[in-house]
Amino acid sequence: MRRVLIVTAHPGPESFTRAWAARSRRACEALGYEVLWSDLYEMGFDPAERGALYGQEGPFDPLKAQEAGAPADASAEAARIEAADVVILHFPLWWFGPPAMLKGWCDRVLVHGRLHDVDHRFDTGRCRGKTALFCVSAGVSAAEIGPGGKEGHLDLLLWPLAYTLRYCGFDIAAPVAATGVHGYWQGDDRVALEARLAALLDGQAALIAGLDQRPRWRFNADTDFDETGRLKPDAPRHWPFIA
Ligand SMILES: Cc1cc2nc3c(=O)[nH]c(=O)nc-3n(C[C@H](O)[C@H](O)[C@H](O)COP(=O)(O)O)c2cc1C
Repeated sequence: MRRVLIVTAHPGPESFTRAWAARSRRACEALGYEVLWSDLYEMGFDPAERGALYGQEGPFDPLKAQEAGAPADASAEAARIEAADVVILHFPLWWFGPPAMLKGWCDRVLVHGRLHDVDHRFDTGRCRGKTALFCVSAGVSAAEIGPGGKEGHLDLLLWPLAYTLRYCGFDIAAPVAATGVHGYWQGDDRVALEARLAALLDGQAALIAGLDQRPRWRFNADTDFDETGRLKPDAPRHWPFIA
């Protein structure tokens, strides 16, 4: 049976992000998938990696500490990733990126020595064969985070998170964005927003059912880089981040 881990990072129980995540859960269950559910705020997940979590005082080497064994909360999350075929991440765009809660989840849960190490990353990552899907809500309009948009292209804003998971071996499905989501609109604008968001929620079941056919982001293969780690001159260039 297919297992899906749904990770949600939003503090508001009434937020659109949480409603959207609940819809993903319902859709996965209706498809007969086993759902693993990590609502990080609801769980009180602690996102700040530090020695105290390992019972250490003074000097702290996070990579070595993780390698020796992560604390129970991070370890449980790592086990969910290992068990999952698909990871769906629901989060709002906060300051041009995911909230600190989700960044901290990556810092603590993508445990060094377990989900990645120097011999297991990118094309040889431990999470090869798994897919990640980002469902992102944003306050700005689609134009503002589209091509030429003033707030930066959403794909580029999401690149560091996507590359974090790609580092661990994940395939990255093309993200889904709900744009213009905020509580300030009144009257007709509010009615239009609510209709748009309701349609997006109603479409989530079809989106998840079609996930295998959804386009994947392209990344350079390990063999596209030379021994110093630079892209070979004749290699394809998929992302301006590798400039
Ligand atoms: C701290 C903070 C930073 C934000 N930064 C951005 C941003 O960089 N880009 C953007 O489009 N919206 C930004 N917003 C707006 C939220 O993304 C938007 O309100 C949210 O996606 C609405 O969905 P929700 O109901 O799930 O919160 C920010 C909101 C907060 C609270």
